[in-house]
Amino acid sequence: MKEQLEAIKAQALKELEAASSAAELEQLRVNYLGKKSPLTAALKNMGSLTPEERPIVGQMANSIKAEIAEALDAAKEKIGQLELANKLEKEKIDVTLPSKKCACGKLHPLTKIQREMEEIFLGMGFSIAEGPEVETEYYNFTALNTPEFHPARDVQDTFYITDKVLLRSQTSTTQVHAMEENKPPIRVISPGRVYRSDAVDATHSPMFHQCEGLVIDKGITMSDLKGTLLLFAKQMFGEKTEIRFRPHHFPFTEPSCEVDVSCFVCGGKGCSVCKGEGWIEILGAGMVHPNVLRMSGIDPEEYSGFAFGMGIERIVMTKFGISDMRLLYENDVRFLSQF
Ligand code: DAH
Repeated sequence: MKEQLEAIKAQALKELEAASSAAELEQLRVNYLGKKSPLTAALKNMGSLTPEERPIVGQMANSIKAEIAEALDAAKEKIGQLELANKLEKEKIDVTLPSKKCACGKLHPLTKIQREMEEIFLGMGFSIAEGPEVETEYYNFTALNTPEFHPARDVQDTFYITDKVLLRSQTSTTQVHAMEENKPPIRVISPGRVYRSDAVDATHSPMFHQCEGLVIDKGITMSDLKGTLLLFAKQMFGEKTEIRFRPHHFPFTEPSCEVDVSCFVCGGKGCSVCKGEGWIEILGAGMVHPNVLRMSGIDPEEYSGFAFGMGIERIVMTKFGISDMRLLYENDVRFLSQF
């Protein structure tokens, strides 16, 4: 029986030596240490031994079992390392391979300029106000001192949703909201979309962007307006930029003006950007009309203020030398990625 056990051990160790995968080892474990192993079978014959022989053979069987288990562990360890090395070899990564180019997104030029404007006015102590794009006729016209038969109210110019509800045609509507919701001093700008019933061409679009500004306090004068806009123009177009005011008419301001900046390309001599003028018109402005103040609950005897409004597309187009407004809305990345 001893020889039988020794033979089992020798066979097991030989097979373990030859095994080359974890799966094979598992099969050997079942074969040699499981319930149906030759070792278990051999021990079933213990009954035929003498009482003196039994403990000796029992001990021997146990130590063979332990030896096989130990050899199994050692083989497992060796094969595990081999398999890991194989796996690492197979999964080797070549870090010198050039990476795939990933296209990077950019801000739309309109967003870029709008954010630049916001930064400039935030730096002067303004805050940013927003207003609804769907407005009532009151906020778009009446509260802005625009008479009932003013041409701007016509359906030719403004998109009406109902008799009284419309798509705002100017960001000046936000002035009224700002005055209704806040007590002076008020210092806000309000960039956003506006809508006009215009046919699309190189300089018109039924939707475009404006930025409104409003300052209300005691003792505000036209020189405050001029100082604010000069600082804005210098920061937006360059330190050498000058501004000029031309008299104009808006229903919601008195006096009113249009404001030009000296051409930032030729410095005022005249070139293709300023069409030989030396100046580029960028906005409308004026002192807030007493009627407008009164209708929004501000006493014009106590307070005064200035307001201005500018088209963002116009500034984007002059700054970047874009001649056709449609390019700004077509979302062609070949165009947009230039800015
Ligand atoms: N709302 C005017 C427009 O769309 C621009 C404007 C002019 C705004 C004068 C103002 C202002 O606040 O005072 O043409």
